[in-house]
Amino acid sequence: MQPISPADLDLLRSSLTNNELVFLDGFHAVKHAARFGADIGLVACANEAKLQELSGALAPDIAGELTAMAKSIDKKDVRKIGEMRSHWTGVWGVARRPEYTADEILKTSSPIILLENPQNGGNIGACIRVAAAANAGGVLLTGNANPWEPAVIRGAAGLQFAIPVATLESLTNLSRPIIAIDPEGDDIATATIPAQPILAFGTEREGLSDQLKRMASTHVKLPMREGVSSVNLSVAVGIVLYSQALG
Ligand SMILES: C[S@@+](CC[C@H](N)C(=O)[O-])C[C@H]1O[C@@H](n2cnc3c(N)ncnc32)[C@H](O)[C@@H]1O
Repeated sequence: MQPISPADLDLLRSSLTNNELVFLDGFHAVKHAARFGADIGLVACANEAKLQELSGALAPDIAGELTAMAKSIDKKDVRKIGEMRSHWTGVWGVARRPEYTADEILKTSSPIILLENPQNGGNIGACIRVAAAANAGGVLLTGNANPWEPAVIRGAAGLQFAIPVATLESLTNLSRPIIAIDPEGDDIATATIPAQPILAFGTEREGLSDQLKRMASTHVKLPMREGVSSVNLSVAVGIVLYSQALG
């Protein structure tokens, strides 16, 4: 395996701050990026045997491609990049960021996930991951969260390359039914969710804003045992997407 060059190290470093690049933290992020057609500029590998083992077990469809792309990186170089966590898989990568737009997502015929002002990178990643698994049409976010930052890439296992994800600048002219997913709504077991919904989930602490609740045509709750006030945001996204109400 060819060793990484100083230019490759610079590319890894700059992927942490350059808006056109994505830092792929770990084998799973690299695997999903490769599988879903990302433009990958670098795969760095600290342990060739581990990469071969992981590729053979978890990505036999692209194992050859991954091992052919990989360049070796030593521990001293991994330590040189302060923000770079020493991922247990010993695999990192850099890909070009796809250019998704909110308009493109709003045109899909599948259900769309709208996360209102989400705060926690791991949560956002987990929402993207389950939305990709359920083959949703896309994930829209309001607020300042960056869906491409390393914590979100890691939480989503790089599935930002499998489903479009974009920031929504304005809540006007959405032209699809909005469904408020809200602990105060009607039971999901009996609620009717219309076709092509925007499924709106609130921020982790305060829940949905009054504005989105007013805009929603239907309000749906996941019934909970008395004394429990809510479930984790990404759990709520997963349950709603996989519920019979959409089927
Ligand atoms: C952690 S919860 C926010 C909790 C907030 N205190 C509230 O009452 O909505 C984040 C989001 O997950 C969804 N959620 C969590 N539990 C839910 C439930 N039991 N029924 C419906 N939505 C739920 C809602 O969209 C909520 O805004």
